Amino acid sequence: MKLAKRVKEMRESEIRKFMEVSIRPGMISFAGGLPSPHSFPIKEIERLSIKVLKNEGTMALQYGATEGVREFRRTIAKRMNKKLKIKCKEENVLITTGSQQVLDLVTKIFVDPRDLVVVEVPTYIGALCSFRNYQSKFLTVGMDSEGMKVDELESKLREMNKKKRERIKFIYSIPNFHNPKGITLSMERRKHLLEISKKYQIPILEDDPYIELRYRGKTLPTMKSMDKEGLVIYTSTFSKILSPGLRLGWVVADGELIKKLSMAKQGTDLSTNVFSQYIANEYIKTGLVDKHIPKIRKMYKKREEVMLESLEEYFPDGCEWTKPDGGMFLWVTLPKKINTKKMFNEAIKRKVAYIHGAAFCVDGSGYNEMRLNFSNQDENNIREGIKRLGNLIKKKL
Ligand SMILES: Cc1ncc(COP(=O)(O)O)c(C=O)c1O
Repeated sequence: MKLAKRVKEMRESEIRKFMEVSIRPGMISFAGGLPSPHSFPIKEIERLSIKVLKNEGTMALQYGATEGVREFRRTIAKRMNKKLKIKCKEENVLITTGSQQVLDLVTKIFVDPRDLVVVEVPTYIGALCSFRNYQSKFLTVGMDSEGMKVDELESKLREMNKKKRERIKFIYSIPNFHNPKGITLSMERRKHLLEISKKYQIPILEDDPYIELRYRGKTLPTMKSMDKEGLVIYTSTFSKILSPGLRLGWVVADGELIKKLSMAKQGTDLSTNVFSQYIANEYIKTGLVDKHIPKIRKMYKKREEVMLESLEEYFPDGCEWTKPDGGMFLWVTLPKKINTKKMFNEAIKRKVAYIHGAAFCVDGSGYNEMRLNFSNQDENNIREGIKRLGNLIKKKL
């Protein structure tokens, strides 16, 4: 068999690899990015499924349009306008199989082999996976407490020759409660990033799955809502506020771009799960989603507080961590002598799991760092898991 050259550049996601271990019985896993199983509104979904089958069953069980169910696209466009002040119409919205598919489709239509994508270090592993599948190379930009170091990006762009700069296809950023760092891109940096995008005509892929999971402070405007050039491609998902099993995400972009993305999607899956779209449409239209989100926020806020308190209590001096205002993750930096990848097996023996930092970093950094998820475990498990990890780290020092 002669596989395509690009297969050589594909890598198994580190998360998938570690997930297998981390779901073993008795394991306290801070590894995945899973919502709490207690957050799923099972009864409501049961009720809405019956309603959909009764009233719209023949449509909901049929093939659907590649762009998404018309009514649902309209509902999303309305919600984007109302909630996030993103000016858009139905034709600016494409419904996708999770926002992961947006990352794939955007790369599919922008990236030729060896083109460059700007990524934060660290960044979301699933995005790296999509970018690599199309043989992208990376231009890396560091992060600090205000998110992507946009100055660093600007000076890198300035120093590049024009030919190389033209190979940059888009800037990938996770502005709110970043996965994996938990950090939020400041207002000043959002504006600066938009300026850079305009100056060099490089689109921004704004990946925003966590925006509605804010536990403190005020929501900052999305870059898409401030975009006057049509250069921002905005994506979000139902995975973190309703259910990842429904596999529903969406992208908001310029109408012509939506047409191209839709063409790319046709060859991938014809359309996103139509039944799920009908259910989610009802879920929004009946106002259930806006009753549901505050409940999840309350649960995760408490879990994050417990994790932060436990880190203070059980982790030794010399360890640092981010204190996110929302989302599902925080990022821990350990003393330099500890390699979190090497420590992983010992953690597993103590029945606690995390994802080691280097997995998120394309520049080879992150070896003494780790990502901890706080949404999936209950408060007692969080205390116990952090205690186990803290004891292990103390032993290593
Ligand atoms: C930053 C980011 N983008 C995209 C996704 C993909 O989510 P989904 O495909 O379930 O919408 C995730 C999932 O964890 C994520 O953290």
